[in-house]
Amino acid sequence: MIELPVDKSIAQRCAILGLDFNKDTIGEDIKSTLKAAKEFSESDEKIVLDLGNSGTGMRLLTGYIAGTGKECILKGDASLSSRPMDRIADPLNSMGAKIRLRADRYAPIDISKSSLKGNFEFTLNIPSAQIKSCMLLAALTSQSKIEITEIIPSRDHTERILEECGADITRKENKIIFDGRKKIQKKFIDIPTDFSSAAYLLAANLLTNKSIILENVGVNPTRIAFLNTLEEMGAIVSLKNKSSKSNEPRADIMVNCEQELKGVEIYGDKIPNLIDEIPLIGTLAMFATGKTTIRDAKELRHKESDRISLLLSNIKKFNPNTTINEYDDGFDIIPELNESNSPVEIETQGDHRIAMSFMIASLKDKKKIYIDDKRCVETSFPNFFELLKKWYQ
Ligand code: S3P
Repeated sequence: MIELPVDKSIAQRCAILGLDFNKDTIGEDIKSTLKAAKEFSESDEKIVLDLGNSGTGMRLLTGYIAGTGKECILKGDASLSSRPMDRIADPLNSMGAKIRLRADRYAPIDISKSSLKGNFEFTLNIPSAQIKSCMLLAALTSQSKIEITEIIPSRDHTERILEECGADITRKENKIIFDGRKKIQKKFIDIPTDFSSAAYLLAANLLTNKSIILENVGVNPTRIAFLNTLEEMGAIVSLKNKSSKSNEPRADIMVNCEQELKGVEIYGDKIPNLIDEIPLIGTLAMFATGKTTIRDAKELRHKESDRISLLLSNIKKFNPNTTINEYDDGFDIIPELNESNSPVEIETQGDHRIAMSFMIASLKDKKKIYIDDKRCVETSFPNFFELLKKWYQ
């Protein structure tokens, strides 16, 4: 059986809420968030928490801490320190928090003592589960009521965990209504394996014509649009042993493909549902027939790297014959036969998903690549290289 890491999004939410969970295979982001949450809960001083590379850890913990009214400083590595934090500081400040950022936009995040409003309405203009969750956690720790309008749906793990722990949270159409005054119960959360990690191995199966089953993978409907993309590309996807534990659905997933992969077009509301899989879709597109287009994905420029620009520059190195059109919010990839088999160096800028997407691409025709920073995959998938070697190389 392939041992995948536990879901990174769910695990970090558990870490912040102080909920115990299965920790068999966890990456650096979960470890940083666990450590920071523990340090915060054990200190009465204004301390500095280091969130490493974890955007989810930093954004969610900021909301959680701001709601407690206590003071704290949150910092991160170079990549995290260049990602926008005003998207959480601004709504938290309008809720009554006192948060200052470097250059009004970046970490370190300096949280001063404050007391949040008891009742707050907020519209998510950026479709981001991190912003939504930050605000929900602020409402929880400040025991406030909050109503969040979500224009485009994003992953709903926070809502599910809160519901699982007995919180007063409901969803009515595109509104989330949460009353943080009701205390939540602490319980063990059984976390499925991470769909976004599984996605690399599903792609590996397709490129190497294997049909290895991935077990107990999280199949939350707000996370699995990538399966639908694989089907549109011509793959057959099957889900078996479907069940639900700790309010999160899971299943065993198998994919195979009897034809050549086809190009796809992805835009609009679907984007947040597969945002972390887009670099992988980009590398799969190199082996498809026809054009692949991604639009409405400007958020990719604010991830661990500018994933649009870095993906495309590496694709150009991987196969210089590929035709690429870059847009502010996406790209077109028009594949061509790769005439060159000379080794290429992949530049990751420390971005785990760029490293893993190109490692998977290299399985096709056993292309030789060098990843400039292999260690960065530890962020989310510590046993990635071990699994590739054992099952696919
Ligand atoms: C995450 C939400 C997404 C995703 C990130 C994890 C989460 O980010 O890209 O990897 O755990 O809530 P945004 O909410 O900023 O889009």
